[in-house]
Amino acid sequence: MPHLPTEYPDFGLTPEQRRHAVYGHYYEYPGMDGERGEIWGYTDRFSYAPGDVVTLFVSSTADRFDMELARDGAELVKVFEKSGLASRWQDTPDQCSVEGCGWQPTFEFAIGADWPSGAYRMTLTAEGRDGQPIVSHHLFIVRPLAGKKTGRILHIAATGSWTAYNTWGGSNHYQGITGPERNQFATRASTQRPWCRGFIMLPEDAPRVPIEVNLPPMTEPRYPHMEWAFATGHSKKYASAGWASYDGLFFKWAERQGYAIDLATQHELHFAPEILQDYDCAVFVGHDEYWTWEMRDAVDDFVERGGRAARFAGNFLWQTRLEDEGRAQICYKYRARAEDPVYRGADTSRTSNAWEAPEVGRPGTSTFGLNAMAGVYAGWGGCIPRGVRGFPIYRPEHWAFRNTGLYYGDVLGQESHIYGYEVDGLDFTMKRGLPYPTGEGNPPEGIQILGLGMASLVEENADVPPGWLNDEDAVFTAETLYGEATPEAMDKVKRGNGMIVNFSKGKGEVFHAGTCEWVAGLLRKDAMVEQVTRNVLDRYLGR
Ligand SMILES: [Fe+2]
Repeated sequence: MPHLPTEYPDFGLTPEQRRHAVYGHYYEYPGMDGERGEIWGYTDRFSYAPGDVVTLFVSSTADRFDMELARDGAELVKVFEKSGLASRWQDTPDQCSVEGCGWQPTFEFAIGADWPSGAYRMTLTAEGRDGQPIVSHHLFIVRPLAGKKTGRILHIAATGSWTAYNTWGGSNHYQGITGPERNQFATRASTQRPWCRGFIMLPEDAPRVPIEVNLPPMTEPRYPHMEWAFATGHSKKYASAGWASYDGLFFKWAERQGYAIDLATQHELHFAPEILQDYDCAVFVGHDEYWTWEMRDAVDDFVERGGRAARFAGNFLWQTRLEDEGRAQICYKYRARAEDPVYRGADTSRTSNAWEAPEVGRPGTSTFGLNAMAGVYAGWGGCIPRGVRGFPIYRPEHWAFRNTGLYYGDVLGQESHIYGYEVDGLDFTMKRGLPYPTGEGNPPEGIQILGLGMASLVEENADVPPGWLNDEDAVFTAETLYGEATPEAMDKVKRGNGMIVNFSKGKGEVFHAGTCEWVAGLLRKDAMVEQVTRNVLDRYLGR
């Protein structure tokens, strides 16, 4: 174990501010920086192919700005810049998070024919009213051109989760300023708005969600990442989604390791699923919570036909729908049974509820082997804050652990804290020291449980009061799976687990380390986590 502090970090907030940082609603909006002035930007799409034209929308208090574009891979490589572009302040509708900003186009440029697939960070700079620079960042993805890509990885960025957690404009799939009281989360999230602060880049000392504190007895739950977000002016959800916290860490690690890797978005899975068929290995990373039915069809078909899917990600929970050619993501979530029109239609399977809800009836297990509602929280708040930080390993002889030296019962990723903050699991039973699925939750035939840790869905303690997580998600899960949150149903759902699993399906194969935090092992250069990652990629690339 690393030497951890025995107190929560102090970011200089008063107790009231600390409370607001967690329980309050704060977000990015035009005008938020007051007299200094601002510059904001977004593009018309999440991803482009080489040769495509990008439309950039900018609103700024300054009348001219500079733009720089750099590919954010193994190294940051500048590909394009332009100075003295004309800008102006553009009106933004109150419900821009839902409807989109609707700004007039500011500038167009073409993606170079030779720009490699990857993430491109855009830096917009102008002069504030006080003469100091004002800056903002945007990011889009350049996807690969079609054609067989032997030996290359296709990384699908978790853009469904990015959209769901984007706090810019006031509403996302968690909190919001929608509804008559302006206090509801948005069931419709627009892609036509800037990304929130902290999704594109973060300072190295930005806390991740799992807490790095050795908690003394009787410590009450706190959530340092939200306190840091409030103290430093970052999005409340910076540690929950985005390129900087998740996908970027994997992509950059893979390139530095010498892997040939291309990048696409979940929109490609939905609108152009044939992209997968060019690859032997597809990778999914981080906090990967929101998928459409069509995206799952794409992966299922890919694996059936011989593709290999490696998922180093957690929280496969919600079905979404896309509208307006992908410019809006629909997810009614907790309000689906009350408000989602699809739930009242003849075919309820596309209801934007959890995959395991009976009206949807397509548990995550049939794609990636694990279910979100059988797992969930670990390592933060009052949900297992003193638990394992990595995966206890049960089948060290498995090919995934080759050249690690791991023994039965060792904990993979303990130092680097790869286990949490949301994990995916499966009901299991133990026999002679080995876990086996019980059959509940539709596990795939022949699935092997390689690693396994505990998870919790409720902040429950006989002596310490609950914090922000409390029991809301447990109540929802009990209602979704069992109709009502009776004490019996709550007891069934409140304990979960997170797993590493492996199974074959059709002509293909799936490896799934069901944790959001796998990338922490790559970020913190944990030799065993890196080795397991390479073992999976090398096998799936046929090396
Ligand atoms: Fe989540």
